[in-house]
Amino acid sequence: MSDNGRGHWQTRAGFVAAAAGSAIGLGNIWRFPFITGRYGGGAFVLVYILLLIFIGYPVMNSELILGRKTEKNPVGAYKALAPGSPWAIAGFMGVAAGFIILSYYSVVAGWAISYIFKSGAYMAAGADTAAIFVGSITSTFGGIFWHTLFMALCIAIVAGGVEQGIEKWSKILMPVLLALLIILIIRSVTLPGAGEGLSFYLRPDFSAFTGEGFLAALGQVFFTLSLGMGAMITYGSYLKKDEDLPLNAKYVVGADTIIALLAGFVIFPAVFAFGLEPAAGPGLTFITIPAVFAQMGAAGHIFGIIFFALLTIAALTSAISLLEVVAAYFIDEIKWDRKKATVIMGIIIWLLGIIPSLGYSTLSHITPIMGMDLLDSFDFVANNILLPLGGLLIAVFIGWFWGTDKALEEANRGASTKLGSSYSFLIKYVVPIAVFIVFLNSVGILG
Ligand code: TRP
Repeated sequence: MSDNGRGHWQTRAGFVAAAAGSAIGLGNIWRFPFITGRYGGGAFVLVYILLLIFIGYPVMNSELILGRKTEKNPVGAYKALAPGSPWAIAGFMGVAAGFIILSYYSVVAGWAISYIFKSGAYMAAGADTAAIFVGSITSTFGGIFWHTLFMALCIAIVAGGVEQGIEKWSKILMPVLLALLIILIIRSVTLPGAGEGLSFYLRPDFSAFTGEGFLAALGQVFFTLSLGMGAMITYGSYLKKDEDLPLNAKYVVGADTIIALLAGFVIFPAVFAFGLEPAAGPGLTFITIPAVFAQMGAAGHIFGIIFFALLTIAALTSAISLLEVVAAYFIDEIKWDRKKATVIMGIIIWLLGIIPSLGYSTLSHITPIMGMDLLDSFDFVANNILLPLGGLLIAVFIGWFWGTDKALEEANRGASTKLGSSYSFLIKYVVPIAVFIVFLNSVGILG
């Protein structure tokens, strides 16, 4: 622990691992493929990559800058730089988004845990992986059980604190995940009929691309990079003052993007090879990946167990960043101790998560948004509304209130390649205008 008692990342590798650990999660392996499948494949991927570079990277820097400058949670960060102003509300929105996202994130992570134990079912001759998936999410008790287990793990780690908990857990496992993805890609792209999937994934066809797809790509950029709710403000607050901030931001964005793109190379060839539906929605990963394992003979069992264990861990290192935002707020601003903040807020989030968890069984008749089930609806509100809005606000705050000169000064201390006028331009104009237009478009005003 350092002088101010909040703790710091011990090493650069520790920060990058933790921030990449936050970024890399279900967003890459579960959400990226299903959103890409839903919005038409290659064209979506192209838009996604452009938004990553021109919106994701500058906003990533911005959150880290506010965090390191103030050494605070999102609410505290806005309060410190704009005392007595309504900007604190932007921070509160972030904390609120943390509640919503973690509540359903934990449910999906629960599916991942349950799949560690399902290799027997999907490896059986003639198994229908779609039916297995539906069977598992419609089990009322099962859904709540695995969600509970996941939240308990999450609470235990975050209660342990920054160095002991988060940093230690994040370090080793990402390389193993990468190796396993590569093995899966080899299997998937060599399946008969895989070529059609590759062309769906890689060949942009803008005829099917809509404004809604644009918003979804933007939402995915924020979600996958853990942006728009202050998670990276909070992680930046534990960053040492002379650490190379823009370089760290590059590593995190780069690592996250590689993992997501690789996941697509596992999923889409398999989707087409097995005659599945790319727009299948939240079940896509859980239906296709087991089907790939089933093609691997006895080794499929072992790979399957390892893969879902790693996916669970990737989800855990992301989920702890969501809980950390909420906890850091109650620790810094309300002066609760870490254990109390983590346990009480963890329990509230767990309770909230029961709603999306029952969305496939007891509550399946409730489809609040565009016919989507409860989990999909929670996901839609968080990613298509709250996160882009949070990103817009942070850009406007830095660009027009606090000042990009001050932001650059904070970013460039210790930087090997300094941020400059292109950062300022993106933050002042491109990010706010792009997010705003995408919003208007999605509520139908432009489109
Ligand atoms: N980025 C994580 C993923 O892709 C999810 C996540 C963690 C997140 N922390 C976040 C999303 C903060 C938005 C905001 O799985």
